[in-house]
Amino acid sequence: MADKIKQRIDELRREILKHNELYYTKGAPSVSDSRYDELMGELKKLEAEHPEYDSPGSPSHTVGAPVPEKFRKVEHTAPMLSLESVTDEEGARHFDDTCARAAGEKTDYTCEPKLDGISIELVYENGMFARGSTRGDGRTGEDVTLNLKTIGTVPQRINSRNAPALLAVRGEVMMHISDFQELNRKQAESGKDVFANPRNVVAGSMRQLDYRITAERKLRVYCYRILEFSGAMPPTQWEALELLKEYGFSVSPNIKRCGDIEEAIRYHHEMEKGRDSLDYEIDGIVIKVNSLKHQAALGTRTNNPKWSVAYKFKPRKEVTRVDNIVVQVGRTGVVTPLALLNPVEVGGVTVSRATLHNMDQVERLGIKIGDYVKVERAGDVIPYVSEVMIGKRTGGEKTFRMPEKCPSCGTKLEKEDVFWRCPAGLACPAQLKETMIHYSSKGAVDIEGFSEKTVNLLYEKGMVKGISDIYRLKKEDLLALEGWKEKKTDNLLKAIEEARKVPLERFLCGLGIRNVGKHLARVLADKYGSLDKVMAATEEDLLRINEIGPEIAASIRHFFSREKNLKEIEKLRENGVVIQDRKSVGGRLSGKKIVFTGSLETMSRSEAQKMVEAEGGEALSSVTSETDLVVAGEKAGSKLKKAREKGVKVIDEKEFRKMMG
Ligand code: IVH
Repeated sequence: MADKIKQRIDELRREILKHNELYYTKGAPSVSDSRYDELMGELKKLEAEHPEYDSPGSPSHTVGAPVPEKFRKVEHTAPMLSLESVTDEEGARHFDDTCARAAGEKTDYTCEPKLDGISIELVYENGMFARGSTRGDGRTGEDVTLNLKTIGTVPQRINSRNAPALLAVRGEVMMHISDFQELNRKQAESGKDVFANPRNVVAGSMRQLDYRITAERKLRVYCYRILEFSGAMPPTQWEALELLKEYGFSVSPNIKRCGDIEEAIRYHHEMEKGRDSLDYEIDGIVIKVNSLKHQAALGTRTNNPKWSVAYKFKPRKEVTRVDNIVVQVGRTGVVTPLALLNPVEVGGVTVSRATLHNMDQVERLGIKIGDYVKVERAGDVIPYVSEVMIGKRTGGEKTFRMPEKCPSCGTKLEKEDVFWRCPAGLACPAQLKETMIHYSSKGAVDIEGFSEKTVNLLYEKGMVKGISDIYRLKKEDLLALEGWKEKKTDNLLKAIEEARKVPLERFLCGLGIRNVGKHLARVLADKYGSLDKVMAATEEDLLRINEIGPEIAASIRHFFSREKNLKEIEKLRENGVVIQDRKSVGGRLSGKKIVFTGSLETMSRSEAQKMVEAEGGEALSSVTSETDLVVAGEKAGSKLKKAREKGVKVIDEKEFRKMMG
């Protein structure tokens, strides 16, 4: 029995050390936080029950992993502690009792979002940013000063006339979800791998020895604690945060002063409910005893302070079974493995499929058909498989192999970097259908009602064999389809009619040129103004555009040099499609970035967006510091709030109409 326990303790220590190493040095954990917490919890419990096996070297007593060699090591001014966590009201109230007892009176609290990023220390000497480091093992971290200098929210100098001789602060490096999605869009557009979540990008960026890579990522730092200060220390955590703000540091919005633990619990529930409307990931709240005098009375344990606790949210991850792994042929022929899941609700959304991106990812996860897996989601990012529950295997699981041939057309697949691709192009039914779906999608030509289902049906019936056929659909043919009544048919034909006139950038996007998404289509339209000019551009011309590199230039040239594509464009024109040139200057909204939020009364969202585009503006979906204008309709929520926070101009629908004449 005793041997068994010792064995289990050793096993747990080895596993935790392995995860630490992956987490701290590679930024790519192979298990979820809750699984990690579970392992740590079990180890701590066994060590407490069997003190004879406890050892100072156990990972339960050290905060992180050893510092990797590549960055210079820095000693922290004070140990960078971790937080004890609770998961329910009872745990929070228990914490409150302990605090009251040690402080000798009831304590009040500063509550903050628990940011899901990478913890760092920033040191300022005589008002200037001197160095910054990661947590490392809690005592010694990595010198990431150069990386941190590229982050806009890290002040280079303290904003004060009589700056203190020394100030050390602690904060979290983060990435906003909107910036993360933008980054992934760019990654995907240029054929690169996408990142699983914002935290991985942050971890990866901080590990970069080449800080120029860090500079390309939109990272932010929110500060939450003064570690050391040569000036007069503010008496409370709340005032410490106020001082940090004055000094020019960013402090997380949404912090709250709570008079007692009940208020802190209410704050927890409110934040959990509003979690989706924040533009950054949080996994709980942090409750901190407000008075620093009380904090000192409470003191710290080896690894965490007694005056603070993390009150975690319910995890947005669930376990479910992989019913099958199939492959999906995309518009550009890339064949991606897709996990079909036993449907499961993850934080209020039913999830039944998750992309596995590519074979590298399948191998990295080690996922098999029949496996139980953890599915996670963050914000409104697509759900992903984060972990395979190896312990739940029965032996009946099946290994997934990439088929040799395209499941849609039977052509032999070809390997290209991490991707497998069907080279058949539009001769492959899957690629053709995906192209038509893409062409008619909202972001491209926008033909309402021309959905995936409709495309599949019309294709099966042989009524469309290419995008130009969309414009030749006849009423009587549609009416002959099962379930197609007068109204449905008329609606589709009307939508097609309306889409005959199409702005250049939407048309370019709709063509589905490899690497050319909405953004680059717009860049091309702005630069060349007409389709003929885009088609005539040489690779050399294209390369003169800032955002276009050799790979993209080549794919654009490749597209317009293929006979088949030129014929399709010709046919589209013959079938009455008018591609509208782009007015280069003079539009009322020329160059402006606009976001719509809430519901509009006198027009649909896509009508409004088209109006913006017709005037040279760009309609985007999230509010960032680059947004010029927000149009707020009825029941506008988080985007409106964010616009106000960022000081972006907000108008209502009526004013927007007036502005558009
Ligand atoms: S205070 C001694 N405040 O959560 C105080 N930590 O699980 C230590 N974190 O390592 C931390 N948001 O990286 C504090 N508002 C916040 C935080 C926060 C996120 C992280 C921090 C810490 C981890 C503990």
